[in-house]
Amino acid sequence: MKIIIDSADKISGMAAAIIAEHAKANPGCAMAFAAGRTTKRVYEALTAMDVKELAACKAFTVCEYEGLEDGDQRSCAYRLNDELYSKVGITKIYTPTVDDADKFDAEIEACGGLELAVLGIGTNGHIGFNEPATPYDSYTHSVLLTDKTKQMNAELFSGTENVPDNAVTMGLKTICDAKNVILVAFGSEKAEIIHQLVYGKTSTYVPAAMLQMHMNMTLLLDEEAAEKIK
Ligand code: GLP
Repeated sequence: MKIIIDSADKISGMAAAIIAEHAKANPGCAMAFAAGRTTKRVYEALTAMDVKELAACKAFTVCEYEGLEDGDQRSCAYRLNDELYSKVGITKIYTPTVDDADKFDAEIEACGGLELAVLGIGTNGHIGFNEPATPYDSYTHSVLLTDKTKQMNAELFSGTENVPDNAVTMGLKTICDAKNVILVAFGSEKAEIIHQLVYGKTSTYVPAAMLQMHMNMTLLLDEEAAEKIK
């Protein structure tokens, strides 16, 4: 695992540059994008770079809440479209749904697999919405969100009680099958889980720790998120 530590602004720029490099080197490739406060900063840096090749990429949204109307501004699909896809001209967009989970994985395969997965991390170690105890060999599937994850996303829904109970997510196998993975984390609230990601046992209780075994994994951290691994 490669680990890069710098200021959040510089890290956002570095993550954006990695995405741009893959888009340029692999015309029309498939990439997975996670929504979140952290990755939003990466997408801001990326859209400012004016990378023409991004428009041809196929974008797979890593996860989505269940039960939201199409176009709901809180959905991952809406936010990613607003923050990234529409700004760089990506039109081939795939969002997982419970009914079409198998089709979603088949679409990734039909594209030749994911060239790059762009991830954030939950304070309980979730990636996408793969909560603790998700099997390593999981493909896209429906999940029951934990209270911790709902609390993490409460602001978006104006209260924990309004966060949907269920979501659909790329599985851990789907994510780890990506040829390259970047995971970005900012802030001291992520420091403990980043320590577990890097040094913890690979256990299903910390889903992100599975990335220790990925051959092309880059962890991009600001100083605060890295404070327990320095
Ligand atoms: C959310 C999303 C993830 C995201 C993570 C971190 O629950 N499902 O895809 O990467 O948690 O979010 P944030 O960057 O807002 O802390």
